[in-house]
Amino acid sequence: MNKVIIMKSVSKVYATGKNTYRALNGVNLEIDTGEFVAIVGPSGAGKSTIMNIIGCLDTLSEGEYYLDGTSIGNMNDNQLADIRNRKIGFIFQNYNLINKLNILENVELPLIYMGVSPKEARERAIEALKKLGLEGHLKHKPTELSGGQMQRVAIARAIVTKPEIILADEPTGALDTKTGEEVLNILKQLNKEGNTIILITHDMNIAKNAKRIVTVRDGEIVSDSKFEKYEEVGVCEA
Ligand SMILES: Nc1ncnc2c1ncn2[C@@H]1O[C@H](COP(=O)(O)OP(=O)(O)OP(=O)(O)O)[C@@H](O)[C@H]1O
Ligand SMILES: [Mg+2]
Repeated sequence: MNKVIIMKSVSKVYATGKNTYRALNGVNLEIDTGEFVAIVGPSGAGKSTIMNIIGCLDTLSEGEYYLDGTSIGNMNDNQLADIRNRKIGFIFQNYNLINKLNILENVELPLIYMGVSPKEARERAIEALKKLGLEGHLKHKPTELSGGQMQRVAIARAIVTKPEIILADEPTGALDTKTGEEVLNILKQLNKEGNTIILITHDMNIAKNAKRIVTVRDGEIVSDSKFEKYEEVGVCEA
């Protein structure tokens, strides 16, 4: 198995005035290609800090992090941006689409950044949007779509570069229950097709859609459980 993520004794220390705050403390985490992992924990536990490090949005203070075999520890901002564009597809709670661009242009953008030709970018973006059932909306602006449709555009944008990892931070947080379930089903389908998915959530009912649940508390991993298959649990039933 290819270990796409290896974190060894990773700590993150923030400076807050005269004091320092240890947001992550000695995190060891390995994720294989093709896994569907949820990272769960209460507010302030360190989930976003882990996600920012995995996603090369932030650097660690202590320890080692290897993304697809490459050590990330000492990279500068340009190197981080480059590896992030090539290796990670992001899905955020608030979609993070560019409202001035239509959805086709939104999905083309990461390919253009990678240096793909405009013609190929267009073809691949249309293909990704078709996969998400959005071929009828190519010229629409994000604000003309529903929340669920916007999140599907964001998923198309995340997969269009064929990244090593799809990193989803509370992807259902702004959606109603039914639409949230649709988004989770899309993530499951992408995982069945071989994509590595990391889902960040504070909600155990959402985490149960993954095949492995890593629980973070006070900057440390306190449990790590794998399941043979997806738990057949609906979202937000409580
Ligand atoms: N830039 C920063 N400077 C100082 N402290 C920070 C910074 N970012 C995060 N922290 C602290 O680190 C801890 C972990 O924060 P983090 O954002 O990772 O939590 P989280 O698990 O994502 O929480 P939530 O569910 O509320 O999003 C918190 O106590 C937070 O206050
Ligand atoms: Mg957070």
